[in-house]
Amino acid sequence: MSEIIDRHFSAFKGELTKLYGFKPGYHFLDLTLGDGGHTEEALSAGCRVVSFDVDPEAIKRAIDFVPKKYKPLIIDPEQVTENIPKAFTWVIIKSNFVKVAEIVKSLALPKFDGIMADLGPSQYQVLSPGRGFSFSVDEPLDMRLDKNLGVTAADLLAVLNEGELSDLFDIADEPFAKPLARIIVKQRQITPIVTTKQLSEIVSKVKRFRIQGKIHPATQVFMALRMAVNLERDNIRELIPHLPELLNKGGVVGVISFHSGEDKIIKEYFEEMENKQILRAINKKPIEPSDKELQISQRTRSAKLRLAKKYS
Ligand SMILES: C[S@@+](CC[C@H](N)C(=O)[O-])C[C@H]1O[C@@H](n2cnc3c(N)ncnc32)[C@H](O)[C@@H]1O
Repeated sequence: MSEIIDRHFSAFKGELTKLYGFKPGYHFLDLTLGDGGHTEEALSAGCRVVSFDVDPEAIKRAIDFVPKKYKPLIIDPEQVTENIPKAFTWVIIKSNFVKVAEIVKSLALPKFDGIMADLGPSQYQVLSPGRGFSFSVDEPLDMRLDKNLGVTAADLLAVLNEGELSDLFDIADEPFAKPLARIIVKQRQITPIVTTKQLSEIVSKVKRFRIQGKIHPATQVFMALRMAVNLERDNIRELIPHLPELLNKGGVVGVISFHSGEDKIIKEYFEEMENKQILRAINKKPIEPSDKELQISQRTRSAKLRLAKKYS
C-alpha cells in the first residue's frame, strides 16, 4: 500500500525548524504523525520527538518514510509495560490525541518545548482504497480514521433526520445543505445510501446547474461527513484545554487547520488564553503556505497555521 500512494505533502514542511526554534535536545510533541513529515523535520534537527496517531496504517507508513537511523519505540497505551528511557529519540504512541495529557502523565514523559497538531486526514488516508473518503472511487462510505469508532458515514446518512443532516452539511459550508438533506432523506427510503458513488451522484444531481469551478460538487458534503464520523471538532475542543499543561514555559504550540470552523475554535481559544496570560498568540493572523510551497503542491492551499507561546 505504502508504495502506491505518494508521501503526504506536509504543510509548512521545512519551516517548522525556524518557527519553533528546533535545536538538539528540543522536546517536540507531534500529535498527528501522518506520513511523518513534521516528525522527520524535528528529528533531523536533533529534537527528541513523541508522535501520536490514531491510525495504525499511518504509523507503519511514517516508520517506512522516516530514515531508518531513527528507530521509534512504539507504545500502545492499552498494553504498555516498559518504561520509556529518559534519553529517548523517538516515541510513537498509538492513540487519539484527546488522551495525550493522561498518557504523558502515566508514561512520566517530561514537558515539551513545542507541540504541533496538523488536523484532518492525510492524502494517503483520503486516497487509499477501501476507506471511503473519496468520491473518485466507488466503495462503501466508511470514513473512519480509527476503526474502533462505531459509526460510519453510511450510518450517519441512514439515521440522521433532515434537520440534523442539513446542520451537518452547513458546518462544512455547503451552500445547498437544506435541499441536499431533503433529497437524501427521500432517496434513502427507496435505497440505502451506502457507497461513495451513490452519494456523489445525488449531490452532483442537486448541484449540477448551480455550481461552477474546479472543486467537485460533493467536496463539502464528503468533508462534513468525515468531520462528523471522526468527531474532529469535538476532538479539538477536548484537546486544547490540555495544551498549556503539556508545554514548558516559553514553549510553542501550533495548530494547522484546513477549515474555517476549526481555525475559529483555535483563534478563540488562543484569545482566551491570552486574556488569562497563559498563552500569547505569536501571529495575530494565521500563517498561510508560501508561494514556493503552493508551486510544489496546491494541496495545502487552505492550510492555516496559528502559533502561540506559553508565558514564561
Ligand atoms: C494531516 S495528517 C498529518 C500529516 C503529518 N503532519 C505529515 O507531515 O505527514 C493527520 C494525521 O493525524 C491523524 N489524526 C487525526 N485525528 C487524530 C486524533 N484525534 N488523534 C490522533 N491522530 C489523529 C490522522 O490519522 C493522520 O494520520
